[in-house]
Amino acid sequence: MQTFGIGLAGMGNVGAGVFKHLTLNRALLRERLGCELEVKKIAVRDMARDRGVSVPAGLLTTRWEELLDDPAIQIVVELMGQKDESLRLILGAIERGKMVVTGNKALLAEHGQEIFEAATKHKVPVFFEAAVAGGIPIIKAIREAFVGNHIRSIHGIINGTSNYILTRMSESGLGFAEALAEAQAAGYAEADPALDVNGGDAAHKAIILASLAYGFWVPAEKVFVEGIERITSSDISFARKLGYVIKLLGIIKADAGGEIEVRVHPTLIPEKHVLASVNGVFNALAVHGDIVGDTLFYGRGAGQDPTSSSVIADLAEAAAALQSPRSNCGFIPHGLYGTCQPIDQIVSEYYLRLTVEDRPGVIAQIAGVLGALNIGISSIFQPEGEEGETVSLVLVIHKASNAQMASALEQIGALPCVKKAPRMIRVENFA
Ligand code: HSE
Repeated sequence: MQTFGIGLAGMGNVGAGVFKHLTLNRALLRERLGCELEVKKIAVRDMARDRGVSVPAGLLTTRWEELLDDPAIQIVVELMGQKDESLRLILGAIERGKMVVTGNKALLAEHGQEIFEAATKHKVPVFFEAAVAGGIPIIKAIREAFVGNHIRSIHGIINGTSNYILTRMSESGLGFAEALAEAQAAGYAEADPALDVNGGDAAHKAIILASLAYGFWVPAEKVFVEGIERITSSDISFARKLGYVIKLLGIIKADAGGEIEVRVHPTLIPEKHVLASVNGVFNALAVHGDIVGDTLFYGRGAGQDPTSSSVIADLAEAAAALQSPRSNCGFIPHGLYGTCQPIDQIVSEYYLRLTVEDRPGVIAQIAGVLGALNIGISSIFQPEGEEGETVSLVLVIHKASNAQMASALEQIGALPCVKKAPRMIRVENFA
């Protein structure tokens, strides 16, 4: 039986999980793949660190460059999560004809075009299932299962940490910081958790999904990104009163003319929509293809085991590609879609929370500003029980462009009766 050698770069949470499960499920993989997958070398930063798995000391090195020069290694698994070093490792592996498996979403979002141009030139596949939505096989689904479809839309909860935080805030009344600390302790958060809460990590994943769905690498500067840092428990409870829940959503859509939109922001979604019941670290993606119609993918979006499952699936793909070479390197560019709409032009519905003086005539002033900008209000309420000189006023706004709403917020914020900066959250009714 053939043995394929693996060089593992990075032995953090996911790297340790990959090693553990490759060892535990070795017999199953051997039966299913008809070959052996054997880790030949592991590059780590710190040789002495306890990783919770027993690794023969002879496998460890502190020099990732050794993976490139080792002839026993045919597959390089990049889990270092770095920028420059990870890029050098990946490009170096491709140049040497070694297949690549990576979960490095930030790197793919930024350097995907360069990586796949090199992969195509050298006819070396690069696999990246673990880069998006942990254990959910969404990359394989979009690339293979939906190959015959124009993808009309993808709505995704694609950051486990922020979904965990929003769930804990909503269900247990936990504060933002406590909920984040729990997610970090469970190993869901990025090394820099700011990326989880500021929408950056979800944006990396949205860029990868949109690029794969539409056949060109979407530039990061075209993607609107807002995080969950300013969501308050009041927003969560007001949204609930209106029949919505708040999720950090990646929204990717294409119109009939081939223009696409890619955005990540907190979003009010109807509590009856299936994505509203996706809680904790779970991710879910609703994908609509022109042939297949509506589909839904659900699973753990972060954590050692689910992410390892995706890396191992890619290792199996790499082993199959080594046995029978293929022309598809993992990303096929085409020119059927092209431009990415700027946020100003994108039309949405909105939740607006204002802190206003508690006196007659205030609602009329606000409605006047919106009316003059031709923006319709679909509902309005003033929560009961608030006392003092100011009260909250919550409005749901009909479809309007983001540019229209920017003007409205500027004018409303300048009214003397409005006492704090208006808070706006986009609403998605999936219509
Ligand atoms: N920090 C990421 C998340 C890990 O919370 O979703 C998975 O990419």
